[in-house]
Amino acid sequence: MKILDQDGVVGIPTETVYGLAARIDRPKGIAKIFQTKGRPLFDPLIVHVADQVMARKYCSEFSLIAETLANKFWPGPLTLILPKNDLVPDLVTAGLETVGLRVPRSPMTLELIGKVGVGLPAPSANRFGRTSPSLWEHVEQEFQGQVFVLKGPAAEVGIESTIVEVNAHELTLRRPGMISKFEIEFCLKSAGTHFFWSSDETGRVTAPGQLKRHYMPDVPLVSVGSNISETQVGPLFIKNLDQIPVEIDGVVVKRPTQIRSVIQLKLPTDQYLAARVLYKELRELSKKADLIFYRVEDFMTTDAWSPVFERLTKATLLTLN
Ligand code: TXA
Ligand code: MG
Repeated sequence: MKILDQDGVVGIPTETVYGLAARIDRPKGIAKIFQTKGRPLFDPLIVHVADQVMARKYCSEFSLIAETLANKFWPGPLTLILPKNDLVPDLVTAGLETVGLRVPRSPMTLELIGKVGVGLPAPSANRFGRTSPSLWEHVEQEFQGQVFVLKGPAAEVGIESTIVEVNAHELTLRRPGMISKFEIEFCLKSAGTHFFWSSDETGRVTAPGQLKRHYMPDVPLVSVGSNISETQVGPLFIKNLDQIPVEIDGVVVKRPTQIRSVIQLKLPTDQYLAARVLYKELRELSKKADLIFYRVEDFMTTDAWSPVFERLTKATLLTLN
């Protein structure tokens, strides 16, 4: 709390991934978030609030749709994008007229927000473009012990929240997450709330600042076709090295010129379990070999698995077929 009051940043546990938080009323603290992460300023932050009452404090309008979704899914892995008011600085929203709000499920973080008494803007606590942290140890490693971290439990959801923009009766899915479009629809239909999905979305997920590639582990992650054997992966990667850009979305890509060892990423069939272990596996495996590879299995291309598959695909540097 003291760190936050002195314009500092703190690592906070949430059920999705760990966040890097500052006080919403401390511009220097917010600027420090961007600095610490190396994050571009055009990428807006999600504001973490203690409850619906605090969420309303930052909105110019909190519609019946927002209320229905908040009643059902908060605290939990759902971020609502709503019209903002003047209490939300431009630095948080990258100049947008809307703000992303979420009540996280971590008791430790809820207690902190309650004590501080204001919202905490917080992105995932990783260096820009890299794998998000699901354990407090990840946050310490990520910033070499330079950031104070609240030591909570492992993030039980494991991937970032579902983001839904609410504009009057129109909903837009901005980022897929473990709360599915189907669950959102079911909730609103059960409540008899009138809504429709934005047509500009058509399967495409775009949020400002959402980039092509993201979540990259420290060693290359490679998708490998079923006809390629494990021993072929390293040599084939080297052969295709020129296909890998030097930089992706401003993040410098490490291009090893020698692959001594490769390791296979294997994920659970169950989408909830897969989400929970994905980032942890990517981090751990990147310490064990020069390259991580995986094979796309049928279960990965199902609707239920799609939020996990989206992260996996965005973290992938190269596809070998
Ligand atoms: O689960 C999560 O959402 C985690 C934990 C820490 O809460 N946070 C997280 O933050 O994933 P971050 O910064 O890594 O991703 C937030 C994304 C931004 O990249 C942006 O695309 C979207 O949220 N976003 C934030 N505010 C927005 C707004 N006003 N309009 C549209 N998209 C927005
Ligand atoms: Mg992030």
